[in-house]
Amino acid sequence: MTTAENGSEKGELAGKRALVTGGSRGIGAAVVRQLLDAGAEVLTTARSATGTTPEGAAFVAADVRTRDGAETLAAAVRDVLGGVDVLVHNVGGARPHRSGLDIPDEEWRDALDLNLLASVRVDALLAPGMRDRRTGAIVHVSTAATFPPSPPFLHYQAAKVALESYSRGLAVELAPAGVRVNAVSPGRTATPGGEATRKYWESLDIGPGPTDTPPLGRDGRPADIANAVLFLVSERAEWVTGQVIGVDGGEYPRG
Ligand SMILES: NC(=O)c1ccc[n+]([C@@H]2O[C@H](COP(=O)([O-])OP(=O)(O)OC[C@H]3O[C@@H](n4cnc5c(N)ncnc54)[C@H](OP(=O)(O)O)[C@@H]3O)[C@@H](O)[C@H]2O)c1
Repeated sequence: MTTAENGSEKGELAGKRALVTGGSRGIGAAVVRQLLDAGAEVLTTARSATGTTPEGAAFVAADVRTRDGAETLAAAVRDVLGGVDVLVHNVGGARPHRSGLDIPDEEWRDALDLNLLASVRVDALLAPGMRDRRTGAIVHVSTAATFPPSPPFLHYQAAKVALESYSRGLAVELAPAGVRVNAVSPGRTATPGGEATRKYWESLDIGPGPTDTPPLGRDGRPADIANAVLFLVSERAEWVTGQVIGVDGGEYPRG
């Protein structure tokens, strides 16, 4: 993909150091690519390296659901980047269930760890450095599908709603230090994780899941979401904080 196609401007993020979680495929990989194209130095993570991790990014294996994983990431940021200016918390997901009441305890915990606490723990380790330097941009990746309520996905929705609330609250806390915090909420996007989840949902035979094409006439592409992330971490968004921006082809219009 060329720079013109992905919306980033060469050099826009030159000198910036970025950490992106879940950058080995899907939306995270598109974010990594755009940050690299914009001139940032990028470190990314997944549980294991794959051939689809964008070339040019440093990689560290870590499971962000755990405190150990968060500490591994913070240490890698120190060792590889020497600090961080841009934090993109992209990791997320969950397995749908036939009924909200069937979701086992360990999957609730997993959904909360992956979709909420991973961000909370990594922010707690790395945002103080941003606050001390009085600069930085943080983006949390949520989902546009937090409403209407969906029983197969109660654990995922609850965790992402909590993430959005947390993101707004952190924005209030860090604004006086010049650190901006926002969230991006993707709609139906063509990624390995998104496709696998929708396929699994259909196999449960529980009626209409997230199956319709969004009003703008196509599914999202990872680059659609990455464009919004890039805007939010760039100087173009220097007066934007505490927002949750839906990028969903018109699927979930909100007031
Ligand atoms: N695609 C959609 O339709 C859609 C819609 C709404 C919201 N979203 C949100 O967008 C974000 C990205 O979704 P996606 O569809 O691009 O996901 P994806 O295709 O499943 O990719 C997820 C990435 O995260 C990594 N990852 C997963 N679990 C991890 C863990 N415990 N520790 C570290 N890395 C981990 C994966 O690598 P490994 O598996 O090797 O660890 C991979 O790099 C998620 O927050 C998701 O909730 C997606």
